[in-house]
Amino acid sequence: MGAMPTPIDELVALLDAHDVKPDATRLRARTYELLAITPDAVMADVGCGTGRAVAEMAALGAHAIGVDLNERMLATAHDRFAEGDFRLGDAAALPFRDGELRGYRADKVLHALPEPERAVAEAWRVLAPGGRAVLCGQDWDTFVVDSAHPELTRAIVHARADRVATPRAARRYRNLLLGAGFRDAAVEVHTTVLTGADALPVLAKLVEACRAGGDVTDAEAGAWLADQRERAADDRAFLAFPIFIASATRPPSP
Ligand SMILES: C[S@@+](CC[C@H](N)C(=O)[O-])C[C@H]1O[C@@H](n2cnc3c(N)ncnc32)[C@H](O)[C@@H]1O
Repeated sequence: MGAMPTPIDELVALLDAHDVKPDATRLRARTYELLAITPDAVMADVGCGTGRAVAEMAALGAHAIGVDLNERMLATAHDRFAEGDFRLGDAAALPFRDGELRGYRADKVLHALPEPERAVAEAWRVLAPGGRAVLCGQDWDTFVVDSAHPELTRAIVHARADRVATPRAARRYRNLLLGAGFRDAAVEVHTTVLTGADALPVLAKLVEACRAGGDVTDAEAGAWLADQRERAADDRAFLAFPIFIASATRPPSP
């Protein structure tokens, strides 16, 4: 029997499955546009995970640097993109000098931080005047699921959200940027829709986290998932959630 997958292995598998989808590829491309990448501009992807965005930003001409707090993630990033510049670091204490960067990107990261405002203040510190910050991610309290058990669905969605450090960080992105002193803040929303077999692994993970944490009983989780399995087998599973992308510019210091 092989070793049990660790939570990091599971996160890597989930990201790998998600990141190759056309919607996810389009969203990343949109974040690069909003960063306004220019040749050799130094740009950080904070919470870089397996390094896909670092490789893509480098391919667009940036000097892209990935930062992550997790050594296993960084090792995976190094294995996949040997020429990439990856550094161990915390979003709230980045390994950069004041004003060193032209671009700052954090994708699916701020919800994991208990105080996302500290990360955004750090983005401000490391960006040069005129530098761009782009935040991207889903709001964990806004999953829309078609289910035969709508009240249980509501309980599951909220309980899962409450297991995230800052579940509603994404709806705060614009205000976080403004609060840190950024200007020209803009927000766009892109809805991800997963149906049929694509939705099932995400829904299974959602309910399993609630079952393991005691938010729902084994019987409730079983009934809920059985409904979703039936739907997926018949191409009737439906999950939608908004992805927010906020962008802003660091103005010149007064
Ligand atoms: C959901 S993954 C997203 C990875 C990548 N941005 C992507 O979109 O595929 C979140 C990443 O943020 C990292 N992370 C979490 N807290 C962090 C922190 N305080 N500082 C830096 N990275 C952090 C995790 O290790 C993980 O790699």
